[in-house]
Amino acid sequence: MKKSLGADTLAYPLPLYLLGTYAPNGQPNIMALAWTGIVSSVPPTIMVGVMPSRLTHEGIVKNQAFTVNFPNSALAAKADYAGLVSGRQHDKFAELGLTPVESTLVKAPYVAECPVAAECRVISMAEVGDHTMFVGEILDIKAEEDLSGADGGLDVLKVDPVVFNYMGDYHRVGPSLGKSFSCGLVYKKK
Ligand SMILES: Cc1cc2nc3c(=O)[nH]c(=O)nc-3n(C[C@H](O)[C@H](O)[C@H](O)COP(=O)(O)O)c2cc1C
Repeated sequence: MKKSLGADTLAYPLPLYLLGTYAPNGQPNIMALAWTGIVSSVPPTIMVGVMPSRLTHEGIVKNQAFTVNFPNSALAAKADYAGLVSGRQHDKFAELGLTPVESTLVKAPYVAECPVAAECRVISMAEVGDHTMFVGEILDIKAEEDLSGADGGLDVLKVDPVVFNYMGDYHRVGPSLGKSFSCGLVYKKK
C-alpha cells in the first residue's frame, strides 16, 4: 500500500559532481551539483540545473562552458564544502587544497584531484522553475589512466564516485548486479 508524499524533487540516487567554472573575474571556482542528467548520446550532452544566484551561474553564462568533475569517496567532504560556501567570498580551490587545471577545449577549469572530468560547452539553456537548465556538449572526458576496466571503459568501482541521497547522506557505489543490456535477456521469449 502506497501513501502520497506530495510534490517533491524525488530522484534517487543522484551523482555528486563538482562543476568547474571561471568566475567573471577569472577566478577558478567549483560548486557541488546534484541536479543533472544525460540528455543525448549523439552528440553526448549533459544537463545541469544551476540556480541563478550561484556565482557558478555567472561563470557559465559568461564563458558558455563548464566542467563536470567526479569526486571520489575520499573527496566527499571537500565536495560538500564546495556546496556550502560561495566563490563570491571563498577561494574554494585554495581552501580545499585542490588544483585547477585549464581545460584544453573549453574556458573552464577542471579539478586535478578528481579521477574523471568532462569538458562541456553550452549548446542550450532554459529557465525551468527556480533553476537554469544548461545543456552542455561533452567535448572530451579526462580520466586517470589506472581507471580502465577489462573492456577498456571506465570501471565504476575504480572511479569510486559519490552518490547523493537527497534525504541527506552520501553513499559509495556497490557491487555489480549484472551486465546491462544483457542480464534481462533471461526473460526474453522467442
Ligand atoms: C549535495 C549538494 C548538491 C547541490 N546541488 C546543486 C544543484 O544541483 N544546483 C544548484 O544550483 N546548487 C546546488 N547546490 C548548492 C551549491 O553548490 C551552493 O549554493 C554553492 O555554494 C554555490 O557556489 P557558488 O556561488 O560558488 O557557485 C548543491 C549543494 C550540495 C551540498
